[in-house]
Amino acid sequence: MNQIFHADFQIGDELNGQVHLVTGATRGIGEALCWSLARAGATVLMLGRDEQALEALYDAIMAESLPEPVIIPIDLETLTLDAAEELAGMIDEHFGKLNGLIHNAGILGSRTPVSQIKSKEWEQVQRVNVDAVLYLTQGLMPLLETTPHATLILTSSGVGAKARAYWGAYAVSKFAVEGLAQLLAEELENTSTTRVFCVDPGATRTAMRAAAYPGETPEDNPTPEALMPFYLWLLSRESESHRGQRVKARM
Ligand SMILES: NC(=O)c1ccc[n+]([C@@H]2O[C@H](COP(=O)([O-])OP(=O)(O)OC[C@H]3O[C@@H](n4cnc5c(N)ncnc54)[C@H](OP(=O)(O)O)[C@@H]3O)[C@@H](O)[C@H]2O)c1
Repeated sequence: MNQIFHADFQIGDELNGQVHLVTGATRGIGEALCWSLARAGATVLMLGRDEQALEALYDAIMAESLPEPVIIPIDLETLTLDAAEELAGMIDEHFGKLNGLIHNAGILGSRTPVSQIKSKEWEQVQRVNVDAVLYLTQGLMPLLETTPHATLILTSSGVGAKARAYWGAYAVSKFAVEGLAQLLAEELENTSTTRVFCVDPGATRTAMRAAAYPGETPEDNPTPEALMPFYLWLLSRESESHRGQRVKARM
């Protein structure tokens, strides 16, 4: 991609008053997204499975007098299309729009040879990393489509573009995410103002990265906060000449 993103990009008031849903809001990149969007004046719908962590984040955002976020306690492992449609109905009723849907939640599973992948873990990883992305997209797409210039972000990984030995269920799930993003981008290209991106955050200093590379010095990788100008740029009209692309987050 010919990215016209500058590391010193700063969001103006464009996202002020918008509504964005972030999955995996409780920590890592998702938590940083919640803060950045709230600081940009957006109402953040914070989806996570750890209700206590969501409440703590809600309190912290409110303590800074930012727009009141919304807690959405959902375990993506068991999400159904019916539940996603019900959520869409609630968002529509309260806000009447959805400017951005950021599929960020993900689980790593264990690194293991293909011959050793356990079916239970395989299913769990595909349910969280792929099935939930599909159902949430299906449920929320009508609302995104009626919101002018909405953005849909799916989250991949380096191993979603080029497999790496022993990355098992996670790598396959990210290949599926890349395929889903390409399908959505093609289908919406000429029919919708909703832009689709497949983001590879790259090595980022989070719990997932630490679990994947226990021998690494965490400080060698950028923090989630360092990626935020890039995400805000994608969500803003500043990037409107881009759509349907796989993008690597850059600082
Ligand atoms: N960090 C990296 O270097 C890197 C590199 C490439 C791609 N990525 C991708 O970037 C995304 C964010 O990664 P991260 O590093 O920020 O990961 P992280 O620190 O492990 O955070 C993952 C988030 O997903 C949530 N989550 C996991 N399972 C869930 C479920 N069943 N229902 C609801 N929420 C669930 C977690 O909630 P809990 O707190 O409840 O567990 C947490 O909020 C992931 O899709 C990951 O694959 C990360």
